[in-house]
Amino acid sequence: MRIQLPPHFQLGFFPTPLHGAPRFSEALGGPEVLLKRDDQTGLALGGNKTRKLEFLVADALERESDVLLTAGAAQSNHCRQTAAAARMAGLECHLALGGEAPEKAQGNLLLDQLLGATLHWCGTHRKGETLPEIEAQLRAQGKKPYVVPYGGSNELGALGFAVAIRELAKDLKDWEPRRTHVVFASSSGGTHAGLEVGTRLLGHEFNCIGISIDKEEDAHGPFEERIAALAGKTAALIGPEETWRAEDITLRKEFQGEGYGVIGEPEKEAMELLAQTEGVLLDPVYTARAVGGCIAMIREGEFSSEDRVVFWHTGGAPAIFSYAESLS
Ligand SMILES: Cc1ncc(COP(=O)(O)O)c(C=O)c1O
Repeated sequence: MRIQLPPHFQLGFFPTPLHGAPRFSEALGGPEVLLKRDDQTGLALGGNKTRKLEFLVADALERESDVLLTAGAAQSNHCRQTAAAARMAGLECHLALGGEAPEKAQGNLLLDQLLGATLHWCGTHRKGETLPEIEAQLRAQGKKPYVVPYGGSNELGALGFAVAIRELAKDLKDWEPRRTHVVFASSSGGTHAGLEVGTRLLGHEFNCIGISIDKEEDAHGPFEERIAALAGKTAALIGPEETWRAEDITLRKEFQGEGYGVIGEPEKEAMELLAQTEGVLLDPVYTARAVGGCIAMIREGEFSSEDRVVFWHTGGAPAIFSYAESLS
């Protein structure tokens, strides 16, 4: 299918590598595992937000905005990458961060500062609750802010991952055909919705499995419904009307452990196993939890030995350094 895409602003390096993880797979006695390395997208140490921000920043520039405004946790990868994207586009960046200013910045927060983002500390609000207020303040100062939604997860952001399916399909041409499961960390839902859209609209048979990272999301109703709705809106940007139901979305919620950002044994095991078999680093909050889930699914025999698992590495390594105490 030929797709007419909205404008995009280049921020990263694509295609990202796709490579095997044979020692990891052998250690688990599992199916073939490949890694899709979106931790290598560039843009201030990489990560999945690069794909989303390429469409969002283009939109901000079309609207002649002069500030990118977004929100997240103090160790948000999304905020770090938005701060870098703003600089590449010649814009300012304001970040609404959860918590209080720490005495010393580390990890992503340190990089936010280095990138010259203006920080607004928002206490218990880490999911953009304060964005309208900050946006109004900026407008009152004569600025033209562009609000990048939490996690970059609206239809324009998700589109980045719909397009990414075309990239994956091309990468896989070098590998023998197999039934393919695509496993990834899912939090604000944009990555997940985009992958579902790309899979369906481009006619592939990938089985997309999101590993849910964040317990609190359920407070707003079943998260599958929101991902399904976002998938519908994303598809509408580029093609004929398509709808998804909550049942079409596979979101595994049993690996959330003690909640967002709490590092448990599965996350530690995943980080150590991938590092020590393949020399690949995971972040403790998202990708370690998702690989931990993937390890559990392999051990439970959920995939046949004829299957292939593509783990989509969505980045986040800068956060490792701010979790040194939980990891050492
Ligand atoms: C490293 C990493 N992986 C995965 C995700 C989840 O992506 P999404 O918010 O699109 O669900 C995030 C979100 O911040 C992230 O930082």
